[in-house]
Amino acid sequence: MRGSALTAASLTALATAGLSYAHWESKRPVLRKETIYLTPRPGFHALNVLHISDLHMFPGQDFIKPFLAKVAEENTIDIVISTGDNLGAPGASHLLLSALEPLLALPGAFVFGSNDYYSPLSKSPLDYLKRNRHVSATQHGERTTPDLPWFEVAQAFTRAGWKDLSNRCDVTEIAGIPLALAGVDDPHINRDRFPDVNSEWKNPDALRIGLTHAPYRRVLDRFSALNTDVILAGHTHGGQVRVPFVGPVVVNCDIPLSAGRGLTPWNNSRLHVSAGLGTSPFAQIRFSCRPEVSLLKLVPAA
Ligand SMILES: [Fe+2]
Repeated sequence: MRGSALTAASLTALATAGLSYAHWESKRPVLRKETIYLTPRPGFHALNVLHISDLHMFPGQDFIKPFLAKVAEENTIDIVISTGDNLGAPGASHLLLSALEPLLALPGAFVFGSNDYYSPLSKSPLDYLKRNRHVSATQHGERTTPDLPWFEVAQAFTRAGWKDLSNRCDVTEIAGIPLALAGVDDPHINRDRFPDVNSEWKNPDALRIGLTHAPYRRVLDRFSALNTDVILAGHTHGGQVRVPFVGPVVVNCDIPLSAGRGLTPWNNSRLHVSAGLGTSPFAQIRFSCRPEVSLLKLVPAA
C-alpha cells in the first residue's frame, strides 16, 4: 500500500515536471535555417524567404514580438511568407500586428488557416488521435461562422503590401527574378479552391512558390503538377509534442508523420512545413519541438 502511494506520488511529480518543462519550451523560439537547391534559371542567384506560421497570438505570448524583431534585424530577408493561424483569441489582432510590424515593412505574401477565422476550442489531445487523418475539420461538424477578425488582419497585411494568396496567384519580381506565387485558403476546413494560373505564372524562368496552411495531399499534388519549386505550409506544429528520436505522434492532416516538420521531397517539388511559433491557449506546451520561424535560402543547384 505504502509502495503504491509512493509510486503514485513519483509519477505525479514526474508528470508535473514534464508539463512545466513543456510550458517553458513553448516560449523558447528558434530560427531554423535551411538551404534549398533548385534548378538554375537566368538571373537566379539566391532568394531569402522567411517562413512564419501559426503564431496563434493571444495575451501572454510576449516572447513573439522581441523574437521577430531580432530575426528581422539580424537577417537578410527578401520576402516574408506567412502560412496562417495568426490568432489565438478574438481580441488579439493588435498584439499580432504589433509583433509583425518589422516584418510588414518587408515584401510579403500570406494565406490564412482555420485559426484566422475561428477561435480555438478547448479539446482533449485524444481528439486529434481519434480523428480520421483523411477527413478535414468541417466534416466533423465544427463551426461555420467566423468569430475572429480575419478581415481586419487581411486588410492590415495587404495595406502593408503583402499579397493575399487565399485561392489566388500572383507574379512579381524580387531579388532580380520573376517570382510566381500561388496559394489556397485553408484545406483543413475545406476553404481551398485552387487558383487558375496563367502562362506568365508558368514561365519556366520564374521561381514558383505555393502556399497552403494545412499540407493536405490534394493541394500538394496540384502544386507539384504545376512544377511548383517550393510548397510552404504550417498547421502541424511539427507534432507539437514529439517523441525524441522518433518524431511526431500526430500531424492532424493526411501527410506522412515524417513530413510534419522541415523539408521533404513532394513529387518534383520541395515541401517545407513550419512547426510554427505558437500553441493553442488551451495547450501551451511543446516537447522536443521548439517554436520556430524558418529562413529558407533558395539557391541554384551547382
Ligand atoms: Fe496552428
